[in-house]
Amino acid sequence: MTASLAWIGFPLVVSSLTAWAVPQETPEDRIVKAFRGQSDFLWGSATASYQVEGSWDRDGRQESIWDVFSHTPGNTHENQTGDVADDFYNLYPADVSRVASYGFNAFRMSISWSRILPLGPDGVRRPNIEGVNFYKRVIHLLLDNKVTPFVTIFHWDLPADLDWLSESVVPAFADYAEFLFETFPEVKHWLTFNEPSSFCANGYGSGTHAPGVKSKYKQYRCGHHVLKAHAQAVAIYRAKYQQVAHGKIGITLNYDFGFPWNGSSDQDAAQLHHDFNVGWWADPIYLTGDYPASMKDRLGSNLPKFTEAEIAMLKGSSGFYGMNTYSAMYVKADVSSEKGFTELRVGVDGKEIGKRAASPWLYVVPTGIRAYLEYVHFRYQPQSIYVTENGCDVPGENEMPLEQALNDTFRVDFYRAYLDNVAAAVLNSGVPVKGYFAWSLLDNYEWADGYQLRFGLTYVNYTTQERYPKLSAKWFKLLLNQMVRQSQLEIAI
Ligand SMILES: *[C@@H]1O[C@H](CO)[C@@H](O)[C@H](O)[C@H]1NC(C)=O
Ligand SMILES: *[C@@H]1O[C@H](CO)[C@@H](O)[C@H](O)[C@H]1NC(C)=O
Ligand SMILES: *[C@@H]1O[C@H](CO)[C@@H](O)[C@H](O)[C@H]1NC(C)=O
Ligand SMILES: *[C@@H]1O[C@H](CO)[C@@H](O)[C@H](O)[C@H]1NC(C)=O
Repeated sequence: MTASLAWIGFPLVVSSLTAWAVPQETPEDRIVKAFRGQSDFLWGSATASYQVEGSWDRDGRQESIWDVFSHTPGNTHENQTGDVADDFYNLYPADVSRVASYGFNAFRMSISWSRILPLGPDGVRRPNIEGVNFYKRVIHLLLDNKVTPFVTIFHWDLPADLDWLSESVVPAFADYAEFLFETFPEVKHWLTFNEPSSFCANGYGSGTHAPGVKSKYKQYRCGHHVLKAHAQAVAIYRAKYQQVAHGKIGITLNYDFGFPWNGSSDQDAAQLHHDFNVGWWADPIYLTGDYPASMKDRLGSNLPKFTEAEIAMLKGSSGFYGMNTYSAMYVKADVSSEKGFTELRVGVDGKEIGKRAASPWLYVVPTGIRAYLEYVHFRYQPQSIYVTENGCDVPGENEMPLEQALNDTFRVDFYRAYLDNVAAAVLNSGVPVKGYFAWSLLDNYEWADGYQLRFGLTYVNYTTQERYPKLSAKWFKLLLNQMVRQSQLEIAI
C-alpha cells in the first residue's frame, strides 16, 4: 500500500485513503518501495576529515600533504585552505545531532592519519591521545544517537612525511590501519581508501591536488602502492579483528560512467574507459588479483607488476563494493590516444549529456548511477554495494542570498532522479545495494576549488560557522520518515 506525500516545495499530490486509486506512481513511491523492506539499509550523509575538521595545528596534529599544498600560494582557489573548514573539530556535537535529525541512520566520516598517529621529532609515529579522544567522542556520540559510523581510513590527507610513490608507505599504512582496528572495535564498517583514482591521478598526474606532482605515469606507481596497502590492511583485519568486531571492510571506487558515443562503433572504447577507471582497481580486488589486460597492453612497462603472492593477497580483498558517482560522459574511440579513447559531453545528436551543475565536470545524468551499479553487479558480483557518495553542487549557489540558496530545488531534483535510478537497479536488476550516502552533510572545503562550490544538504556560513538545513535536507527527512512508516506497516502486516 502506497500513500502519496506532499513534498515540500512541490505541487501537492492529494493524499487519498484509497491509495490504490492514486493514478501515478511518483519517484518517491518507487524509492520507498525498493528500500522499505531492508531494515538494516544504511541511509547517511558523508564527510571527510580535511574537508570539515579544521584545527589543522591543534592538539598534536602533524601536517598532512594537504596542509602543505594549500599553504603554498597558487595551488587552490583564492589560496583557500582547510585550516578552519567547518570547524567540525569543535562543532561536531551539533553536527551529529543534525545527522540524526535529518532521519539518517548512518554517517560516513574519515580519520586524519596525521591527527591520530603523527610523526614524532624522533622520526617515530606514536598515537596522539587527543586525536584518539576526538574520534572516540565523535563515534560514541553517533552510536548514542543510533547512527552507524562508516569510517574511511584514508581520505587523501596523507602525513606530510609520506609519499604514495615510495614503497615505504605500504607498511606505514598497514600499521596505521591496524592501529585503528585495535582502537575502534565499535566501528563495524571500514573503507580502506576513498577514490584512489582521484588522488593518484590528481596528486601524481595532473598535479592539481596534493602533493602536486605532474607526471604521465607516476599515478600508476601511486596506485600500485595503494593496492598493496589495501590488501595488507584487509588481511590484517580478517586475521585479527574481524571476527571479534563482527565488522566489514571494503574500498570506495569512484566512476562517472562512460557511455559509448556511437552505440554501434564505440563499445570497445567504452570498455577501455571502464578498464582504465574502474578495472584499474576493481579487477585486482574483485576479479583476478591483477590489472586488466588492456591496461597492461597499452601501458607496458609504465604499469608496475604484482608478484604472485601479491596477486593472491589482492584477489577477493574486499567484503563489499563502495561506490562514489556524480556524473557520466560519452566515450569515443581514438587511435591517437595511448588509452584508445577520448571523453565527450556532447552526443551524436549534438546535445549535451545532461544539465550542468556548478562544477564544470558535473553534468546531471541520473542513468549513470544505474549503469555503474549494473556494471559492477554483473562484472564483479560483490555481495553488497554501498553508494558511499552521490550529490551535486548548484549553479550560482555560492553567490545567492541565504534564502534562495536554501531553496535548492536543483539538488532535490538531482537526488530524486538518481535515487529513482538506484531503485530501478534494485527492483529490475537485483543489484544488492545496502546503503546510500549523500555527499555531503555540510558545505565544505572542496579541495583545490576551495569554498566556492557547495555540495551540502546543510548551508554553512563560513563567517559565522552557522548551519542552515536546505530544502534537500528536508526532502531526505520526509523520504526517510515515509520509509520508516512503511517498514513498520509491512512488519505489522
Ligand atoms: C594567491 O597566491 C598567488 C601566488 O602567490 C597570488 O598571485 C594571488 O594573488 C593569491 N590570491 C589571493 C586571492 O590571495
Ligand atoms: C556510428 O557507427 C556506425 C558504424 O560504424 C557508422 O555507420 C555511423 O556513421 C556512426 N555514426 C556517427 C554519428 O559517427
Ligand atoms: C554570513 O554571516 C555574515 C555575518 O553575520 C553576514 O554578513 C552574511 O550576510 C552571511 N551570509 C549569508 C549568505 O547569509
Ligand atoms: C523555490 O524555487 C522554486 C523554483 O525552483 C520556486 O518555484 C519556489 O517558489 C521557491 N520557493 C520559495 C519558498 O522561495
